[in-house]
Amino acid sequence: MQIKKVGVLGCGLMGSGIAQVAAQSGYPTTVVEVSREVLEAGLKRIDQFLATGVAKGKVKPEEKQATQARLAGSTRQEDLRDCDIVIEAVVEDLEMKREIFARVDGILRSDAILASNTSSLSITEMATATRRPGRFVGLHFFNPVPLMKLVEVIRTIQTEEGIEETVSAFARSLGKTPIRTSDRTGFIVNRLLVPYILDAIRALEEGVGSITDIDQGLKLGCGYPMGPLTLLDLVGIDTTYYIANIMFDEFRERRFAPPPLMKRMVLAGFYGRKTGKGFYDYSVEPPRPNDFLTAR
Ligand code: CAA
Repeated sequence: MQIKKVGVLGCGLMGSGIAQVAAQSGYPTTVVEVSREVLEAGLKRIDQFLATGVAKGKVKPEEKQATQARLAGSTRQEDLRDCDIVIEAVVEDLEMKREIFARVDGILRSDAILASNTSSLSITEMATATRRPGRFVGLHFFNPVPLMKLVEVIRTIQTEEGIEETVSAFARSLGKTPIRTSDRTGFIVNRLLVPYILDAIRALEEGVGSITDIDQGLKLGCGYPMGPLTLLDLVGIDTTYYIANIMFDEFRERRFAPPPLMKRMVLAGFYGRKTGKGFYDYSVEPPRPNDFLTAR
């Protein structure tokens, strides 16, 4: 099966990135959001990303124009009708995802493939909400989607022969490198990444080092592109908290348990860059570390 038309459910941080990359790779792409307002915000994010790409000389102005011409935004799931693959990237809420998948399953052709960009929920549990569990996979992208080269391809014990190959070829056509993983909470990357970033918060709580020193330590000492606390602010402290809870629920291991400071930051609305405040304060340039976090 060849994928010719792409649908994306959700135009948030991940959904907009996936829709952008698909359209930029030549696929007519339809992205669906619940409201016009959220949709417009997502399309604006894509416009800004492409505009930055043009300013940096990475994207040609005509490529930006062609990408946007291939991209359609909608608030109606029915507009996904003729898509060959639909990738879901809505909030990490299992019941909501199951409901959406059940509805979209009824709209799509029977040979279309459904995929979830979940970071931590069970692909099998979502697939069983549809009548096509054999044509259901996980396709996990990384943030920022247009720049990160990896896609985790998750197959379940129900995935039909040939589907994994089709979606892996699709991922390659987006300029990404696919890796194969089984349907285990967190897959490969978050299984290793989440305990590491949670440990960085624990080190901060225990006074091992300041925010700046922990980040500099891992950046300069290990060659990571950004320190763990900067990364938490990028991915979203709320999102990571949610993922950690799901992983803790599955494995019951302390290394996946969110530290108390993380919970308080989520309660206070300190989600990172998206709310302007996390481990760093983004209202100033360059962002300033919120060192008061550990004193309270
Ligand atoms: N369009 C096109 N290209 C762009 C661009 C744009 N809008 N913005 C930047 N670029 C290019 C730059 O020109 C640059 O290209 P070169 O390497 O050829 O020079 C490259 O992208 C890097 O950009 P910058 O120099 O501006 O920024 P940087 O070097 O600081 O890198 C980063 C930014 C790629 C985000 C890097 O810091 C990084 O890799 N960070 C780690 C991110 C990470 O770990 N993500 C995974 C999070 S976990 C997740 O997402 C999964 C989950 O389930 C939670």
